[in-house]
Amino acid sequence: MITAGTGFGVDCAPEDVLTVDPVTLATMWTRRPEGASPLLMALATTGTDGYPRVRHVLLTEIDDGALYFHTDSRSDKVAELAASPRACLSIPWPADGRQLGVVGDVQTADDTELRRAYEARSRYLKLLAWLNDAEHAALPPATRHERWAAFDAGHPNPQPPSTWTGFAVIPREFTFWRGDPDGPSQRVRFRRKTPRDEWMSQILPG
Ligand SMILES: Cc1cc2nc3c(=O)[nH]c(=O)nc-3n(C[C@H](O)[C@H](O)[C@H](O)COP(=O)(O)O)c2cc1C
Repeated sequence: MITAGTGFGVDCAPEDVLTVDPVTLATMWTRRPEGASPLLMALATTGTDGYPRVRHVLLTEIDDGALYFHTDSRSDKVAELAASPRACLSIPWPADGRQLGVVGDVQTADDTELRRAYEARSRYLKLLAWLNDAEHAALPPATRHERWAAFDAGHPNPQPPSTWTGFAVIPREFTFWRGDPDGPSQRVRFRRKTPRDEWMSQILPG
């Protein structure tokens, strides 16, 4: 359970947080109540012009140590990740005084995960994956709504479109930030160079 107030939400002495497994801690922090909508996270990539790009995507799941998000294969982020398969994620919980940052290498999700993620999407998001393209974006609102309603009526059980894709971010760095209304904020950072390495951890000012 995440505990209220300060601390990193694990059942250990504050000084022992450095020995916690960061994947377990990230899984705890990002756990959602049954039926709740997925968490939103900022996803930063390196643009093909070398400038950073950031946008928000849904955190689909954390599985086997990787954080997954899903998208359209025609989107800019997919071209950017093909050219530079590295990403940075940030999830804030301002009301709880928490922030999680992740840096990692990116791999395309496998077919089983892609299918599972599509199946777990809300009906709206399943339809959106089919109709969120340049052709529909250019149409007037009334036509877009007509096309949506027709597609909705004609597809009681939509399957993933060929443009459905997703990525696993394999973490090499986690940063857990905690605010403290009665004192200074604090971070704990975990780093490793490869998934075979041990995590190295340090406490940092907030
Ligand atoms: C609340 C919210 C949730 C979103 N979820 C996703 C998502 O899970 N996947 C996605 O590709 N885009 C999602 N988007 C849209 C992206 O922010 C972005 O506009 C789109 O993916 C195109 O990004 P790109 O051109 O940089 O690739 C979401 C936007 C918002 C505001």
